[in-house]
Amino acid sequence: MLVTQQPVFRKFWHPVMPLSQLATGTPQPFTLLGEAIVLWLGADGEPRALKDRCCHRTAKLSKGRCIDGALQCGYHGWTYDGTGRVIRIPQYDEGREIPAGYCTPAYRCQAAYGYAWVALEEPLAPIPEMPEFGAPGWRTIFQFHEVWATSPVRALENSFDNSHFSFVHRATFGVAAQPKPSRYELVEQDGGSGGFYAETVIAATNPPAFHRVSGSSEPITQRHMRNAYYLPFARRLDIEYPSGVRHVILNGFTPIDDGHIQLCQWLFRNDTEADCPQQLLIDFDHVITREDKDILESTDPDAVVDLRRRGVEFSMDSDRPGILIRKQLMELLARHGEAEVHR
Ligand code: FES
Ligand code: FE
Repeated sequence: MLVTQQPVFRKFWHPVMPLSQLATGTPQPFTLLGEAIVLWLGADGEPRALKDRCCHRTAKLSKGRCIDGALQCGYHGWTYDGTGRVIRIPQYDEGREIPAGYCTPAYRCQAAYGYAWVALEEPLAPIPEMPEFGAPGWRTIFQFHEVWATSPVRALENSFDNSHFSFVHRATFGVAAQPKPSRYELVEQDGGSGGFYAETVIAATNPPAFHRVSGSSEPITQRHMRNAYYLPFARRLDIEYPSGVRHVILNGFTPIDDGHIQLCQWLFRNDTEADCPQQLLIDFDHVITREDKDILESTDPDAVVDLRRRGVEFSMDSDRPGILIRKQLMELLARHGEAEVHR
């Protein structure tokens, strides 16, 4: 599937960048679904997003500057508000009216969990709820936002695939001697927003370096995994260890273009900095995500989604979550009159 060729994905919220990156006061470029956009913070501190193209002579607005909450083009200084209207042309005499048509497209943009999220068109579903964010007893750790040369379907499927641990993660938590995956209990969510919930318990190696992460010192521990899929490209993974420590990850696999995603990863923990330092948790998940990144970047980003296309990729029993993701994506496309677009 070529994500930029499927217009329905424009109708969802995607996490684009941390608000801290916008707080620098310079406009920031991003490519979302092949669309060049620019983000900045308005005077109220809320993020804004416009097409990254000045309506005067097409210069990239991300090369401009933020002035009193407005965005000024770096070429001739035309200045935009958050709705995309030109509100100032410095070359005009005072009081001269700016034609109403002088504007560039604006996109829906909102702050959630410390990130700016953008929907290119009216969103069909809300941003997934993360009750742990800001809740008493929980801390939020911004782990990653980085570009991977893969597609959201590949990254999503991988995040529900418990057959790769013994191979991709054999150097970290995968138990090489146990390649047979534990079975997932899959529950499809009712209602228009779709998604599903998948639960399983897996064995995980627990060397001394992981003791503070798992809150236990057993050589092999258990991970009770509660994994939820949110259409189209987000998932929440709640890992509970026997110690009671919970390691809750939110991933947004933001589609940049047909060969790249931005991996956004938040971590929520119910322990304290003294129990397990933030940097240790970032380093721990960094090593594991490098293992996934390396193998995913070797796959074809144009993943088969319509399984009626036989013979392109073959499946096994443990691919059920990935098959369910495909089924739900196909239903979404069908509801919006689309078929899978692929090479
Ligand atoms: Fe932007 Fe001229 S190109 S002001
Ligand atoms: Fe993995």
